[in-house]
Amino acid sequence: MRLSDIKKVGVAGGGTMGFGIALNFALWGYPTTIYDLNDQILEKSAQRVKKALDIFVTEGLISRKRAEETFKRFSFTSDMAKLADSDFITECIVERLSDKQELFNKLDKMCPPQTIIASNTSALLMSDIGKGVKRKDKIILTHYFDPPHIVPGLEMVKGPGTTDETFDITYDLMKKVRKVPVKVLKEIPSHLLNTIQRAMRYAAIRLWAEGVASAEDIDLGIRASFGFRSPHEGAMMHADLNGSWKWPKDVSAARAEEMISSMPELSGEAKEKLRKRYAEGGTWFVDPDRFEEAVEVRDREYARRLKELYWGRVD
Ligand SMILES: NC(=O)c1ccc[n+]([C@@H]2O[C@H](COP(=O)([O-])OP(=O)(O)OC[C@H]3O[C@@H](n4cnc5c(N)ncnc54)[C@H](O)[C@@H]3O)[C@@H](O)[C@H]2O)c1
Repeated sequence: MRLSDIKKVGVAGGGTMGFGIALNFALWGYPTTIYDLNDQILEKSAQRVKKALDIFVTEGLISRKRAEETFKRFSFTSDMAKLADSDFITECIVERLSDKQELFNKLDKMCPPQTIIASNTSALLMSDIGKGVKRKDKIILTHYFDPPHIVPGLEMVKGPGTTDETFDITYDLMKKVRKVPVKVLKEIPSHLLNTIQRAMRYAAIRLWAEGVASAEDIDLGIRASFGFRSPHEGAMMHADLNGSWKWPKDVSAARAEEMISSMPELSGEAKEKLRKRYAEGGTWFVDPDRFEEAVEVRDREYARRLKELYWGRVD
């Protein structure tokens, strides 16, 4: 099977995530069917698609003609059997394991063997969702971020039986519909990016509950400090560009121990990996010989964003 064999796309569940995921496929040329429980819900999905397309047009991302063509690629149905001719299906129904298992089992029986079935679950494991299906080679996890027709990044995780072929076709499909797929190497609850996202959210909510700051100030702080940096650098690149990799070895070793003691769930093997990494030192991935250049690229981008979001032009 190849990427070019994917000609039609299906989405099960046309709610907050499903309509946007479907829109993404339709926008880049795929006839797309949304399946949901009843016509009333489907009507709402269709309205959401129209509104999202209108925002794309009025914000200058796409032409009105493209928006109209995109909408024509949609079908809406409450008959699950209409998904059977889809070559790639994304499940976006309620986050309840038994419901997802039931849907996967039905789709598995209904669809031809080559159909790839993906789940957008936020936290469940593909090995649990796909427990009962025969096509263990053709199930995969594609976890998007709200609003999924706009946020480019998503994470991809294999189930225990997912083949490289299924992973690669799905990866190429995500690129074709202009997403930024991130490869996750292991199945874990909440995946990679959601684990990182939740750590921040849970810390924020805990600090609010402890009266450390108001909800508004917590968000203001996030957006104006490390959130301001996020479009350019994540946690790893930030550690490269802030120069902490140049710290004396004893200071780095102390930092590693401090980190390890704050992570009681860390396995012995992972602890050793961290200690070794910090003892070796060096950057995560920025070329140390081009450090100054990388800092300048960063600062120029930040200056542009400072002007756009906060200062305007100062004469
Ligand atoms: N909302 C988010 O920010 C977000 C982000 C990433 C992943 N997710 C995941 O995406 C999935 C959907 O979340 P959502 O926020 O879109 O939920 P939602 O409630 O907005 O939409 C779910 C849709 O699925 C439909 N549905 C429920 N059971 C169904 C079934 N058995 N068959 C067909 N349709 C069914 C509902 O009618 C509804 O329209 C969940 O697994 C969630 O964890 C959500």
